[in-house]
Amino acid sequence: MLTPPALSLYVHIPWCVQKCPYCDFNSHALKTEIPEEEYISALLEDLDTDIQKYRLNEAPRPLHSIFIGGGTPSLISAEGIERLLKGIEARIPFKPEIEITMEANPGTIEAERFVGYRKAGVTRISIGVQSFEQHKLERLGRIHGQDEAVNAAKLAHQIGLNSFNLDLMHGLPDQSIEQALADLEKAIELAPPHLSWYQLTIEPNTMFYYKPPTLPDDDDLWDIFELGHQKLSAAGYVQYEISGYSKPGYQCQHNLNYWRFGDYLGIGCGSHGKLSFTDGRIIRTTKVKHPRGYLAAYQNMVKPYLHTEHVVADEDRPFEFFMNRFRLMEACPKQDYVDTTGLPLSTIQETIDWALEMGYLSETAPHWQITEKGKLFLNDLLEAFMAEESEE
Ligand SMILES: C[S@@+](CC[C@H](N)C(=O)[O-])C[C@H]1O[C@@H](n2cnc3c(N)ncnc32)[C@H](O)[C@@H]1O
Ligand code: SF4
Repeated sequence: MLTPPALSLYVHIPWCVQKCPYCDFNSHALKTEIPEEEYISALLEDLDTDIQKYRLNEAPRPLHSIFIGGGTPSLISAEGIERLLKGIEARIPFKPEIEITMEANPGTIEAERFVGYRKAGVTRISIGVQSFEQHKLERLGRIHGQDEAVNAAKLAHQIGLNSFNLDLMHGLPDQSIEQALADLEKAIELAPPHLSWYQLTIEPNTMFYYKPPTLPDDDDLWDIFELGHQKLSAAGYVQYEISGYSKPGYQCQHNLNYWRFGDYLGIGCGSHGKLSFTDGRIIRTTKVKHPRGYLAAYQNMVKPYLHTEHVVADEDRPFEFFMNRFRLMEACPKQDYVDTTGLPLSTIQETIDWALEMGYLSETAPHWQITEKGKLFLNDLLEAFMAEESEE
């Protein structure tokens, strides 16, 4: 029996001052002023459409978390964020302990704005630092220097947020092990409650893909990860996800809900959604990707915001569940599988037995736990859940 899980909301802001050469997110360099008012009206209308289409007001589920991501959401004024959040709350009630995260680029932050976001209801800010080294920041096409990143973190400490995050990348072009660790030390000195530490990946359709930079070799990347992980652990950070570290109690609730196969609405250009219903259906949605097309939906009122919608078939659910779940270090309650996929444990028992035998998983009566070996052979482990589907 499927029990609809916690409901989150993702809001996408698709503009940036300029496009970074490594970034494949749906973000566009701003050519003129941001159409702030119009875009926020469109976001709220998009939400209205989802609420009606999926009858979300019939059995209201209060919002567990909101994530305003991008792009560069900090290009939106504090007044704009306030209008957006008030508009959302008027449509779907918030849980009292709701987490509301907003991404901010250090190049677009002034103290007043930060305070304004806090007053508008933002409880957590995620600051895109990437590196503290001037030369590396230039190589990454960033619009800020190291001082702005440091100031943004200091400001985040002062304004009474519940938490904040720094995004830092490693494995940067021509980066030595020492440089990567120096960046990490600098981030730790700023004492963020949460630190996302990503290894740079070269994505198709980015500038770096067409003009590849020289990256550290695999041995160096391994050393960076091992030594960096030790530094983070010594400083009291606990790894709870592949790239996610936090002080105890400061995990990102929004991301946890994604990885625990929770539900989320997605509003804004190209955003993704996942919704489960008591009748056993799980659907995935995407919205119109390009800002021009998305805003056309608002202006004409005839074109939909919705771009695609598909029902997740029963046989695709085990893979989707574990693909998300095995990113997390925590043990997985077996009951979560039953509740969020709506399938009995018998659908995966054979694969689970194989994974236990291979030493990829361990189990207790109520939980499964991915082992160190399982993490190393994650692709094999996940593929097994796919194979089971195609055999049925
Ligand atoms: C959606 S971006 C938005 C953050 C914000 N726009 C900024 O850049 O300041 C979220 C984070 O993903 C990480 N990221 C983006 N592209 C990446 C890539 N190719 N490899 C690794 N991490 C990446 C960066 O750390 C970035 O801050
Ligand atoms: S500022 Fe952030 S979202 Fe925008 S292009 Fe750079 S990494 Fe991507």
